[in-house]
Amino acid sequence: MAIPSGRSGHPLFDPGQRIKLGIFGSNVSNGCTISTAESSFRPTWEQNLALARRAEALGFDLLVPVGRWKGFGGATDFNGECLEVYTWAAALAAVTERIHIVATSHVPTVHPIVAAKQAATIDHISGGRFGINVVCGWFTPEMEMFGVQQLPHDDRYARATEWIRVCKRLWQEQDFDHAGGYYRIKAGYLRPKPVQQPYPLLINAGVSPAGIDYAAREMDVSFCLIDDLARGRETIARIRQRAAGYGRELGIMTSAAVVCRSSEAEARAVWDHIVAHGDRAALDNLLTTFGVHSQSMDPAQARALAERFIVGWGGYPLVGTPQQVAEEIGRLADIGVDILLLSWLDYVPELDYFGEQVLPRLRDLGLRA
Ligand SMILES: Cc1cc2nc3c(=O)[nH]c(=O)nc-3n(C[C@H](O)[C@H](O)[C@H](O)COP(=O)(O)O)c2cc1C
Repeated sequence: MAIPSGRSGHPLFDPGQRIKLGIFGSNVSNGCTISTAESSFRPTWEQNLALARRAEALGFDLLVPVGRWKGFGGATDFNGECLEVYTWAAALAAVTERIHIVATSHVPTVHPIVAAKQAATIDHISGGRFGINVVCGWFTPEMEMFGVQQLPHDDRYARATEWIRVCKRLWQEQDFDHAGGYYRIKAGYLRPKPVQQPYPLLINAGVSPAGIDYAAREMDVSFCLIDDLARGRETIARIRQRAAGYGRELGIMTSAAVVCRSSEAEARAVWDHIVAHGDRAALDNLLTTFGVHSQSMDPAQARALAERFIVGWGGYPLVGTPQQVAEEIGRLADIGVDILLLSWLDYVPELDYFGEQVLPRLRDLGLRA
């Protein structure tokens, strides 16, 4: 477990657990699964509340939502229903006691003074358990809806740099002026300051060189995509090396799609069923935009990973029996993953199964206390 610079003693990075566990994407319709395969999951407040309470009772460490303003079309209008991330986080903060709660916040859609203020407020509601997953806005139709022009790729990170630096000054200073390329702040003022010092946890999910550089300079955690263990090890080494160039250490987070059943054959059949019912139109819209408007991967690479996008938004596949899933989580810890976010086709019942069947095995393997 790597401890990000300046975060020793932070409860999310206590070395008692070799790998931290979280839930990803429960605030959006279809979660991370681009498929019409039947599921009782809906991104309702009731299900989110139930999931947060259950996850906390099971000892999960964090909850991370998807930041989304518009669906991807297709039969499912994938992710079209979305509970707004700051209000979602504030409400969950009030009804939980230990689990960390993140808001995935778009830079262009919220002024840094508002973001810093909301973050400080949720940090108080939660008693220091809040974090921001900063995203620049790669899904151009969403950004166009706001009437803002999509910036060239690397300029988005220049703006995100200024955005987070303004937030950091608001969290740590009082009465400062700022005149930058994107924001002008006169006598910047923010009270109360956040509970977490120096400020709430910061995460970024940029995969391009500019994105990795941004995480290395400004963030606590890099949220990366791992396609296989060997390449994942290299990706993690590259991220850590970039952070070391700034004299910093980062936590490494990734996401995984869990299809866990009592037999491997059954788990594989469920995976195949989800893929067979994939919402190809939504997938095509997503991959075209992701390929064209982000530099996370080229379109051919994205298409090669189509099955993984259908089952878990590109997340690492954890398919098999509880023992197989637990052992694979161990391999992810071995290559340097510090925080693993999980998604399922049907979050509530499958989280229960994971809690009953996989968590005890993770303890037996020494991965969780
Ligand atoms: C695992 C993962 C999760 C992401 N979650 C979101 C999200 O919830 N909302 C969003 O707008 N972008 C999200 N992104 C997009 C990234 O924040 C980033 O904008 C995108 O990868 C393009 O940046 P890049 O070209 O630097 O990779 C996610 C990316 C990854 C890899």
